[in-house]
Amino acid sequence: MINALRQKRIVLGISGGVAAYKGAELTRRIRERGARVRVVMTRAAYQFIGPLTLQALSGQPVRTDLFDVNAEAGMGHIELARWADAVIIAPASADVMGKLAHGLADDLLTTVCLATSAPLLIAPAMNQQMWLAAATQANVALLRQRGVEILGPASGEQACGEVGPGRMLEVDRLIEGLNARFVNDALAGLKVLVTAGPTREAIDPVRYLSNRSSGKMGYAIARASAEAGAAVTLISGPSNLTAPETVRCIAVTTAREMAEAVSRELDGTNIFIAAAAVTDYRSATVGEQKLKRGDEPLTLTLVPNPDILATVAAQARRPFTVGFAAETEQLAVNARAKLEKKGVDMIAANDVSLPAQGFESDDNNLSVFWPQGERILPCAPKEKLARQLVALIAERYHAHARHPA
Ligand code: CTP
Repeated sequence: MINALRQKRIVLGISGGVAAYKGAELTRRIRERGARVRVVMTRAAYQFIGPLTLQALSGQPVRTDLFDVNAEAGMGHIELARWADAVIIAPASADVMGKLAHGLADDLLTTVCLATSAPLLIAPAMNQQMWLAAATQANVALLRQRGVEILGPASGEQACGEVGPGRMLEVDRLIEGLNARFVNDALAGLKVLVTAGPTREAIDPVRYLSNRSSGKMGYAIARASAEAGAAVTLISGPSNLTAPETVRCIAVTTAREMAEAVSRELDGTNIFIAAAAVTDYRSATVGEQKLKRGDEPLTLTLVPNPDILATVAAQARRPFTVGFAAETEQLAVNARAKLEKKGVDMIAANDVSLPAQGFESDDNNLSVFWPQGERILPCAPKEKLARQLVALIAERYHAHARHPA
């Protein structure tokens, strides 16, 4: 199965129980898979494992208290709840499960669980009699009903000497369960082609025209599409990012190279997503030698580059085609105009006039338009936004396949 934990943000909750020591191994293994981990311990967990161990292994301060003057400025409970792509509690004691089932929030862990919209996974660990107790079973049923995923427990010999259900699942199985939470089949069996990053247009051997695109959004879309089961090809302009290992990556520099690569790869593509910030113009001439500095004004003649998105959209047998739009004003009007002008199936528009969003930032917001509708995806880390966008693209693709426009 694809490693879907890369670049994910995981809150690991550790509550009181002998299995708390396995939290150290779990932290290490989640990070090994490329995810970031923030550990939140309950007071009872301190009886079983020291926070310093988890701090060293996660590379982040370990938090426990809801009211922490130092932390609230940086990573408060709401921030932590928003930051998380998933929350996993391992081990989860009967006490923590009882609190969660009844909406109590008297420490940081239970508060984060209540405040997050991220999936919650729970690995119970307790004495078998406590697990089988009617109260615990009722709490488990309630949590399951609300979409909480219960991993385990396993059966066997327990630390207290009894034998029965209540052992925490092995770390391997917890990692599998967490990974599976990020994998779906929304695009299973489909071929997705994504463009990403800027393009670069030479002026002379050392200078070029380009833009501030980092490629983050396109790479995140490629990853999210692969996690949704698609066979993904990513055509990327110059970027410092590494492509997900399950994605076929083709590196290009100029807009024309990108256009050629897209046209070569288009055959059999079901969905084309143009996330690249293609440089609209290139210099009409490219100096063979470095241009020398002079006192006179220098005029560069720019000629337009091919519009890759419009070219794909104009094809008779085109894939479901998704474009991006960066707008500084009248977002909906301009995005809808672009949808029509380029003849694409969907446009994801973002307001680049807002501070701390867009090109180089980690966060973004998107307003997505298609001929019969629209949806707003509020500001979130680009990886999270990409997953939401890919889910929406999958939904529209399947609707479109049933009732083509
Ligand atoms: N695009 C493309 N090839 C180009 C230019 C743009 O494929 N030569 C794609 C981009 O990948 C993006 C969308 O078209 O999906 C952006 O369209 P564009 O017309 O460039 O819009 P903006 O960047 O928003 O710029 P403007 O409003 O100035 O037209």
